[in-house]
Amino acid sequence: MDTALTRLVGVRHPIVQTGMGWVAGPRLVSAAANAGALGVLGSATMTVDGLREAVREVKSRTDAPFGVNLRADAADAGDRVRIILDEGVRVASFALAPSRELIAELKEAGVIVVPSVGARRHAEKVAAWGADAVVVQGGEGGGHTGEVATTVLLPQVVDAVDIPVVAAGGFFDGRGLVAALAYGAAGVAMGTRFLLTSDSTVPDAVKARYLAATVRDVTVTRAVDGLPHRMLRTDLVAALENSGRARRLLHAVRRAAGFRRLSGLTWPQLVRDGLAMRHGKDLTWSQVLLAANTPMLLRSAMVDGRTDLGVMASGQVAGVIDDLPSCAELVERIMKEAEAVRERLTAAP
Ligand SMILES: Cc1cc2nc3c(=O)[nH]c(=O)nc-3n(C[C@H](O)[C@H](O)[C@H](O)COP(=O)(O)O)c2cc1C
Repeated sequence: MDTALTRLVGVRHPIVQTGMGWVAGPRLVSAAANAGALGVLGSATMTVDGLREAVREVKSRTDAPFGVNLRADAADAGDRVRIILDEGVRVASFALAPSRELIAELKEAGVIVVPSVGARRHAEKVAAWGADAVVVQGGEGGGHTGEVATTVLLPQVVDAVDIPVVAAGGFFDGRGLVAALAYGAAGVAMGTRFLLTSDSTVPDAVKARYLAATVRDVTVTRAVDGLPHRMLRTDLVAALENSGRARRLLHAVRRAAGFRRLSGLTWPQLVRDGLAMRHGKDLTWSQVLLAANTPMLLRSAMVDGRTDLGVMASGQVAGVIDDLPSCAELVERIMKEAEAVRERLTAAP
């Protein structure tokens, strides 16, 4: 299936496996890339050296194009961009809008810049600054998310910008892909669906929690880091929502200390990252620290398998997913379904 996305990036299928912290590592990304999708490494939770190693590992496992997701506002974003340039990574994906200067620098070096946005005005801004394409995430999507549903946000953005738009939030099958194309998108980007594959390194016990979830078990809360964050509703989430300020601050400091050790960041860098994540919102100090240490909470689940202690970021779509195909099986299935849907739509009544 030939779309503006496949032409821009050089992938076989108009499907993106999004950059997810602790989830989108070399194994998942290379499996997605070998399946013909655009795999994207989640680098926000990697050290700078870890990112370089991960990029090299993906390159050793596939010749297909792939991307790196990073936070443009991270204290060490410059070092990460250097790796993208030095290692010849095809696509730079951003969790928050990169600056006009950063977009220009990457584009000059031949890197395709694809920021993720959750609102029309952000899409307009990055398009005006020269982004090559944009991933638009509707409110049903996993992780940090907005309020507007994909079915409303996607046509709004498609009408507002003239660069390729990739639809995210709630996609898992071939029907969704065709629906996104019908809205004018150039493809779909999926997080939760790729987390739930046999190629993802997320521990089995954690995958089982996602598979068991119904659509009503996925919630949006600000209790974890002060920003709207979509995740599985667990006892931890309920406890955070019900705990007082002092307890939350203690919890935040403990977690932040752990993340600092792992990431090699200094306390000032950590606090700067937390402040940057406020997005100009009025957060308390405990929320700033919580924002900075969200990576630790995700890690407990995604790496250590602690469904009791960790945060399991998730799209609503977890409620309709009940299997763990390989990336190759998943992508092939989606493309077959999409073709069948298109044939049905164009067949004489
Ligand atoms: C476990 C998890 C971790 C995520 N981490 C990141 C991240 O580090 N950076 C980012 O830009 N988006 C992140 N996201 C959002 C996804 O990249 C993607 O936009 C979202 O999952 C799409 O919605 P879907 O889950 O309905 O497919 C994360 C999502 C999940 C489920």
